[in-house]
Amino acid sequence: MYLLEIHPLKKYIMLSIRLKYWILLCFLLMIFSACGEKIHREKYYGVVPKPNVMELGQGRFDLSRRTKFCFLDKDTLLRYSVENFNTIIEKSIGEKLDIIISDKPVNKSINISLDSELEEEAYRLQICSNRIDIVGGTAKGVFYALQTMQQLLPNSVLEGEQADRIELPEIKITDKPYFKYRGAMLDVGRYYFKPEEIKQFIDVLAMHKMNVFHWHLTEDYGWRIEIKKYPNLTKVGSIREKSPYRMERGKPIQFDNKPHGGFYTQEEIRDIVKYAAERFITIIPEIELPGHATAALASYPYLGCKGKDYKVETIWRVTDEAFCAGRESTFKFLDDVFTEIVDLFPSKYVHIGGDECRKVRWEACPMCQKRIKDEHLKDEIELQSYFVKRVEKILQSKGRKIIGWDEILEGGGSSTATVMSWRGVEGGIEAAKKGNRVIMAPSSYCYLDFYQSKDMSKEPLSIGGYLPIDSVYSFDPLKGLTTKESNYIEGVQANIWTAFMDTTEIVYYMALPRLAAVAEVAWSYQNGETLTYSDFKDRMADFRVLYDIRELPYAKYMFEENDSIK
Ligand code: ACM
Ligand code: ZN
Repeated sequence: MYLLEIHPLKKYIMLSIRLKYWILLCFLLMIFSACGEKIHREKYYGVVPKPNVMELGQGRFDLSRRTKFCFLDKDTLLRYSVENFNTIIEKSIGEKLDIIISDKPVNKSINISLDSELEEEAYRLQICSNRIDIVGGTAKGVFYALQTMQQLLPNSVLEGEQADRIELPEIKITDKPYFKYRGAMLDVGRYYFKPEEIKQFIDVLAMHKMNVFHWHLTEDYGWRIEIKKYPNLTKVGSIREKSPYRMERGKPIQFDNKPHGGFYTQEEIRDIVKYAAERFITIIPEIELPGHATAALASYPYLGCKGKDYKVETIWRVTDEAFCAGRESTFKFLDDVFTEIVDLFPSKYVHIGGDECRKVRWEACPMCQKRIKDEHLKDEIELQSYFVKRVEKILQSKGRKIIGWDEILEGGGSSTATVMSWRGVEGGIEAAKKGNRVIMAPSSYCYLDFYQSKDMSKEPLSIGGYLPIDSVYSFDPLKGLTTKESNYIEGVQANIWTAFMDTTEIVYYMALPRLAAVAEVAWSYQNGETLTYSDFKDRMADFRVLYDIRELPYAKYMFEENDSIK
């Protein structure tokens, strides 16, 4: 009624004021949301291992709660591929991104598809302002693409800072690993680590795009895996009465005088194997033979040449003890053990050790000497080769292949075994020339239990050696090989022997960041001369945030910081 009486000009002015008000309000809202809760990052290069090709654009993709994963492929493993990324995003934006299935790419989404033309671990990642496309050879490739995308997130997001929107850089990456075997060995024989700690170690491997966890499960110093048919292996063999905590020139000068023990039940093993598989990591179990087996002999003395008086070893040394190669009961035992092992581990390979086996017991053992005679062997070195080949047959009968340390070449090695070269690269080169598959893990580049600084007094006690990170990084696994021979090199592995590492804190301090250098050698090798230590060092300055957010200890020498955890 009253309005009807308003003059039309006045009415026009009032309406236009209201419109201006609304425009102003929208404008202010836009500015507010753009400045307030959007996180972006200035520098986007910290990807380790270095991708094959990476081109940075000018624009940005805004990731928010409304962003979805859009699966264009129905592979069920894809859910594992996105899970890790989603967990990180959830901390920042408060929710995991939804997953939808679609038969065509959707704008404002992370579109995920598979391309069978790509190798299984290869991926393409393209981030544009209106959508993200990830294409993997398989779900593994997608997993690695998301490991890379995680490294493109702003550090504050990785640190868990709350945000409504997260900026990702416009980028195009084409990537695949050079070596198909990218592994790390953890020795749990010297020190046992709980299942939760093993899972964390697996996560650490996954963030470095490593794909093999070589689990060193048996030793002179402890047998760490439940074998149902032989309960003494864990009842007796998993416990040693004391451990040396100081050594000088390989001799103990002090012990801790407290028992150390622990083992994994078969249920725990199955759970860990599944956990690793969800992160696209294969676990290769190692059951040591014929040497490094004192814990087994202490559990079942009939397995040794002496037949009695064994105890789980307490000193880090190469002992005289070994499984008796003359008795059939030894091979029956190993057959039974491997029956349970292959049931637990789906891996195509089983590691059978083979290193540092002294021959003194075999020299004195009538049964071993009879075996040498009966089998027309020349000596105890050939007896070791006989032993390894018999175990290889056992595993072949169960559909598996063997890996052994480079000593398995001695006495006429098997042509079908994979050789893990640890006493330098020479064993690997010799094996590749013979046509054996090879994994390069030379102590000169890959032993992460060696000191990483010259000032050893500041470092945790180590077994010895000196291997700074730039030396690890300089490793060329194909040096000295022809192109044909290079084809036999399956990959690279870091080894972590835990002689004085009784906590995971020390394990990580020793392993990180040197593990990143091994991972980059294994993944990015084909980048050839574009790989330089100084570039790696620059990228690691970014990558270390991933260690920080997980509260993983690491050595800081490469960052010119000098704090040891000693
Ligand atoms: C080894 O380091 N004994 C394989
Ligand atoms: Zn014997």
